[in-house]
Formats: sequence, structure tokens, C-alpha cells
Amino acid sequence: AGEFTLRPKKLEDYIGQKTATDNLKIFIEAAQLRKEPLDHVLFYGPPGLGKTTLAGIIANELGVDLRITSGPAIDRAGDLAAILTNLNENDVLFIDEIHRLNRSVEEVLYSAMEDYALDIIIGKGPSARSIRLDLAKFTLIGATTRAGSLSAPLRDRFGVISKFELYTIDELKKIIKRSAGLLDIQVDEVSLEAMARRSRGTPRVANRMLKRVRDFSQVKGSGVIDLAITNATLKSLGVDEYGLESLDRELLRLIIQRFKGGPVGIDTIAASIGEDRVTIEDVYEPYLIQAGFLHRTQKGRMVSEQAYKHLGIQLPEQG
Ligand code: ADE
Repeated sequence: AGEFTLRPKKLEDYIGQKTATDNLKIFIEAAQLRKEPLDHVLFYGPPGLGKTTLAGIIANELGVDLRITSGPAIDRAGDLAAILTNLNENDVLFIDEIHRLNRSVEEVLYSAMEDYALDIIIGKGPSARSIRLDLAKFTLIGATTRAGSLSAPLRDRFGVISKFELYTIDELKKIIKRSAGLLDIQVDEVSLEAMARRSRGTPRVANRMLKRVRDFSQVKGSGVIDLAITNATLKSLGVDEYGLESLDRELLRLIIQRFKGGPVGIDTIAASIGEDRVTIEDVYEPYLIQAGFLHRTQKGRMVSEQAYKHLGIQLPEQG
């Protein structure tokens, strides 16, 4: 206890993701009325939208302990077995990047999720036998940036599947305002708006931005955050008026200059800018698409007219 955090602890303090949270509120209450564990929950959507935060809130609202791990951190089936056997009744186990679990670990998870049991093989060869170990009933909350890369048997074992959406400007303003209060810093209304607009729909980006603006304000300004200090900070971070950073602009410029605005395949884009395909798809594209700079089509990615305008590049003649 005592660690400072901007993460809200209660559902009522969680801003946005209304569909997901409205439903979860009911499911949490129902589970508590029945004195049962909450059914397993899958969160999917771009990074930084508050999936871990919401998992923490769920555990808190249920009054149980939260254990946090991630797909890549669980190497072997035995690692998962160690975690599962240490859970108490109705606890929440959060597995981030759950799409990155390896097969043998995933298979252990099936019976754990379905029957709250571990099937363990003892011995080798003809004398090998399987024993079943009962576990405390628990709730698995899995998080992934891509629901599509979960295997069907794993996906099917989640009773609740919630999609996380990028946040609106208004929601981001509320989040930044709340964080500023917790950090004990004053931000004027226009600066709140400016930060919200440039946070690519993502609370993690918004909170990080607020902290950097605070740094600039403390060192170079009066301590109160105004638009001059906000703009100066964002400029020095290379964040433009739409919240695009250098890689975003590089990606758009590449499609325009090397591929005539597209369509061009994602693998070609990835190879050309030297970034992982999955990172482009999960981290960069959701905002570029939502903000109207990029479209996904059958034949590949295409930039919009707006992208040309934003980058100050002349639109090609219409053929
Ligand atoms: N911090 C991160 N996500 C948040 C949210 N949805 N509401 C409030 N604070 C947050």
C-alpha cells in the first residue's frame, strides 16, 4: 500500500469505456450476490487504454487479491501451475498479452478456466498417470491488443469479452484533469483541451504528456500550465497538432512518396520503415485510422486527402 498511482481504484472513478464498465458492474454485482467468482473476462483493444487499470478495479470491487502476469512471462506450464495453486478463492489473475502464451501453457489454462483444476502427468512411459489437482475458484482476466490472434479454444472459455475503444477528447480531458489534481498541478482549460486533442485517444499518452508538460512548466514556466508551455513541450517532444509523432508522419509520408498514396500492403510498409508489422497494426494504425489519415482497404493501406494536407504535400492529379 502507499505507492503513488494515477490509476483509479474504483469503478466510479474510471472514465470512459462505458459499454464495458456498465456491463461489468452488473456481472460483478451478480457474482457477489451468488458468492461465486466472476466469470473469466477478456479485454481487447489498443495498448494504453486502461485494461490493466480496469482489471485492478474489478479485483478491488470484488474485494479480492489481484495477481498480475503476462503471456511472455509464463515460460513453462509449471510456472502457470505455481501461480494458479497460489490463488485464493475468487481471486483475479490478470494475464496481459495473453495471445503470447505458448501452447503447452495455454493447454494447462483450459482445465483451470473450465473446471478450476490442473491435470498433472506423473512419471514417464507406461507407468505415467495423470492426477487432477483442484484449484481455488478464480477469475482470469486476459488482455490482448488483438482478439483475432487468440486461439478459438482459449477465446471460447471467456464468459465476457469487452472491446476497448479509443477515448473521446472529452473523456481525455476528464482524465487529464483528474491526474492534474492528483499531481497537484494547475492546468488551464485550453491546455487541457490541447493535451486531450494530442493524446491519440489514449490515457497512457495523456498522462505521460501531462507529466512532461509539468516538467517544462516547473523548469521554464510559472508552475501553472498554460497554452504557451503546453505547446512548447509538445513541440520539443515532436508531437504535432493532431498528436502525431515522427513515426506516424514517416509512415504517412512513405505511403505518399513511395507508393503514390497506396494501396500498399502492410508487410511492405513494415519492411520499408523498419518497424514490426504487429506494432504498426496495433499501436500506430488505430489512431491514424480513427483520426482519418489512413484507411484499410482490400488491397492494402491508403492515405487520405487529409494526410496530404497535414503533411503539406500536393495532392496528385486525379486521373
Ligand atoms: N487512467 C487510465 N485510464 C483511465 C480511465 N479510463 N479513467 C480514469 N483514469 C484512467
